[in-house]
Amino acid sequence: MGCCCGCKLCCCVLLVAAVFIAASLGLFSAFFPYPSHASCRVNWVFGKSCTTVKTKLIEQMKAWEHDDCSTKQQCGYEYLGEDGNVIRGLHRTPLLKFEDKLNFTMNANGGNCHVTAVSVSGLSYAVIDFGTNYCNLRNLVIGSGLDENDRYYKENSTNSVCTMYSIAHCNLYT
Ligand SMILES: *[C@@H]1O[C@H](CO)[C@@H](O)[C@H](O)[C@H]1NC(C)=O
Ligand SMILES: *[C@@H]1O[C@H](CO)[C@@H](O)[C@H](O)[C@H]1NC(C)=O
Repeated sequence: MGCCCGCKLCCCVLLVAAVFIAASLGLFSAFFPYPSHASCRVNWVFGKSCTTVKTKLIEQMKAWEHDDCSTKQQCGYEYLGEDGNVIRGLHRTPLLKFEDKLNFTMNANGGNCHVTAVSVSGLSYAVIDFGTNYCNLRNLVIGSGLDENDRYYKENSTNSVCTMYSIAHCNLYT
C-alpha cells in the first residue's frame, strides 16, 4: 500500500500512460478506418424483382466457376446454394488462392429489390485485402449487367464496414 496513488510521480506516470493509450487508439482508428477482419458489406437497390436479381447472380457465379484464371476473366467462384432469400458462394482469389465466403440477402421492396451482400476473408489474420472482398461482390453485380439500364440502381457502403472500399479498383477484365 502507499505507493501508487499516494505518490505523485506514480500518478503522473499512470496519467501519461492512460493518455498515451487513448491517443494511440484514436490514431489507430483515424488511420485504420476498416473492419478489424478483412471483409465487406455492401447494400444495393435494383429496380427489378428479387427473382431476376437472384437468378442473374447465380448464373454469374456459375459462369465464373472455372478454375482457369489465366484468361482475362473472373474465375474461381463457387455457387454453394440458396436458402430462402439468401444465396451463398465462395471466391478463391486467383493469385493467392485465399478462399472468401460470400452471401447475398434479397428483400423485395415495392417493385425494387434491396440486397445486402457480405464477403469475408477466409484467412483468419487478414486485415488488409486490397479491396478483394468488395470486388468479390461488385464484380458479380457488374458482370451480370444488373446495373445496366436501371434507374433505381444504387450502391452504398463505407470503409468502416468494407475494407478499402473508397480506394478499391475492381478490374473485371484484367
Ligand atoms: C452472410 O455471411 C456473413 C459472414 O459470414 C454472416 O455473418 C451472415 O450471417 C450471413 N448471412 C446470412 C443471411 O446467412
Ligand atoms: C447504406 O445506407 C443505408 C441507409 O442509410 C444504411 O442503413 C446501410 O447500413 C448502408 N449500408 C452500408 C453497407 O453501409
